Amino acid sequence: MKTRYIGRELKYLETTTSTQDIARELAEKDAREGTAVIAGEQQSGRGRMGRSWLSPAGGLATSIILRPPIDFAYLLPAITSVAVFQTLKNLGVRAGIKWPNDVLIEGKKVCGILIEHGLTDGELRYSIVGIGINVNFDTDRYPEIADIATSLSVQLGHEVPVAEVALHLYTELENIYSRTGEPARIIDEWSRNMVTIGRRVSADFYGNRIDGTAEGVNQKGNLVVRLADGSIKEIVAGDVTIKNSNGGA
Ligand code: BTN
Repeated sequence: MKTRYIGRELKYLETTTSTQDIARELAEKDAREGTAVIAGEQQSGRGRMGRSWLSPAGGLATSIILRPPIDFAYLLPAITSVAVFQTLKNLGVRAGIKWPNDVLIEGKKVCGILIEHGLTDGELRYSIVGIGINVNFDTDRYPEIADIATSLSVQLGHEVPVAEVALHLYTELENIYSRTGEPARIIDEWSRNMVTIGRRVSADFYGNRIDGTAEGVNQKGNLVVRLADGSIKEIVAGDVTIKNSNGGA
């Protein structure tokens, strides 16, 4: 392990409910920043927006406890997705980021990120950064996701040691997370590798669906979408659908 603190304290569980829950318990007991939980498989992996996350053996399911200053926490989606992007690059895989923090290969999802926070009286006590990477599994065996998901082994044509992926990931995450003084550069790295930009998208905007072209991300991390009438909307949270995706990374 080449990191200073991320993954230095590591809890490995062959199987668990969700690494998010285990990490939260540890964070509540004052586990040090960087403590990571890894599971061989999760029985009830959680995704964003109340969705579930399929987490069979052969994948990487990890949750990392961070304690960022509150005014840096908004950058965690950018930081984490850039760290995953770099990790895959180190492994020889060209990926792209779909706003805010999905990682895709040829239009199919290879990684999902779930960030949860522990707050007391408006104070941020910890953030749990949950990362699920499809490392070794044949997505064709899971009909419910076969059309929308891929894995590193499918892309590379061979198995990849999960521990190697985790080591790269913790190193990249620590490198980017340490750059607290460089929010603009982090946003820039995030947006340069984002496949959403320049594409036709539809998104939920305060309960209404809007369609437009994603023009970029601003310094707050919001997605800037231009509508047909020329007006601009800023998408703060949620998901966007990329239309007429031809499968670019
Ligand atoms: C998403 O794309 O909706 C986010 C998926 C996040 C999955 C990871 S796997 C490790 C951690 N534990 C969970 O239960 N979820 C996250």
